[in-house]
Amino acid sequence: MTSVNTMLIDPPMLNSSCLWASDIEQLRDLYACSHTGAVTTRTATLHGFKENESNAVVFTADRLSTLNSYGYSPYPLSQYLDWVRELLNTPETHAKPIILSITASKAEDLAQMVRDIQNLRADLRSKSSAISTYDLANYVAIELNTSCPNIPSAPPPSYYLPALRPHLDVLVAATRADPSLTIGLKLPPYPDVTRIRDVVYCLAEYTIDEPDAEGARSPFAFLTCTNTLGGSVVFAGEIDLSSAPPSLGSDPAPTAFALPTALGGLGGERLHALALGTVLGFSRALAAHPSPAVRAIKVIGVGGVKDRASADRMRAAGACAVACATGLGREGVKVFEKIALGE
Ligand SMILES: Cc1cc2nc3c(=O)[nH]c(=O)nc-3n(C[C@H](O)[C@H](O)[C@H](O)COP(=O)(O)O)c2cc1C
Repeated sequence: MTSVNTMLIDPPMLNSSCLWASDIEQLRDLYACSHTGAVTTRTATLHGFKENESNAVVFTADRLSTLNSYGYSPYPLSQYLDWVRELLNTPETHAKPIILSITASKAEDLAQMVRDIQNLRADLRSKSSAISTYDLANYVAIELNTSCPNIPSAPPPSYYLPALRPHLDVLVAATRADPSLTIGLKLPPYPDVTRIRDVVYCLAEYTIDEPDAEGARSPFAFLTCTNTLGGSVVFAGEIDLSSAPPSLGSDPAPTAFALPTALGGLGGERLHALALGTVLGFSRALAAHPSPAVRAIKVIGVGGVKDRASADRMRAAGACAVACATGLGREGVKVFEKIALGE
């Protein structure tokens, strides 16, 4: 079990935001799985993202890695809010937190999305106080996706901190008004520890001083490390052809680009070492920070988690919980049992 602000993740394992957490059937499976302690939705925008044939995912021949060119979910946030309400009201399953992955290119849109989520939480809070001892509002958290590598017009803002700050301002205002709101950031892989320290020092600037309460606190309760490694290329000769997008045809040249976009985000086994390095880099940079509020920020480890050994490595690097996407796409929710039981 791990606690992240008001959110309890028990067991400390979940899916990371991805294609296989897009719709209600997939979310129901993840929610019902006894080995997930929380569920993360695919990244939603205010109005939904228009997909086209350039958006695809391929698996490498061993099916342990993926390369994808997806943007965000075609479903708007309002749809996920309805689904969250439905899941949290599932009578036969014990409630588990749902992390709403969201993003926006404009800070005004992000502010609207946060208001919509807070309206849902207020409604859940008023209903749950009437029927149970726990507060269902604490089962809805926000993860701001700052790291999708597949939007040509909007490079990941977490690689360029001035672009990230207006979004952080929106989140900080929300948690100042309501400290029970749990907020995390989805970050990209960083091959350079100085960049990691820059991010930690940037986040530290937003620490909220609360002399009347328990002292200073960070508005950011968790960091999810890492998203896929953008700017990666895989060729047709390296992939499981059953995952090939239609654009590749039935008998592609081995040197044809596997994705219609050529470049995409790399996940799975080929990302694992860099994801571990990023998790370790953040764990160390957070632990070394002079502010206890910054030291309290948790790291969720993602990237090539596929079995017990890889999950153990993530924890050894400092992750309080582990999550996966490629493993989920390959094996469905069974992957969580495999990670938990070491089979
Ligand atoms: C097909 C696909 C779609 C993804 N979509 C999202 C997304 O919508 N939001 C997000 O934050 N990460 C997204 N990711 C990244 C994953 O959450 C994860 O960070 C990354 O794939 C590394 O984990 P893995 O090695 O277990 O795949 C996606 C990954 C894949 C493979």
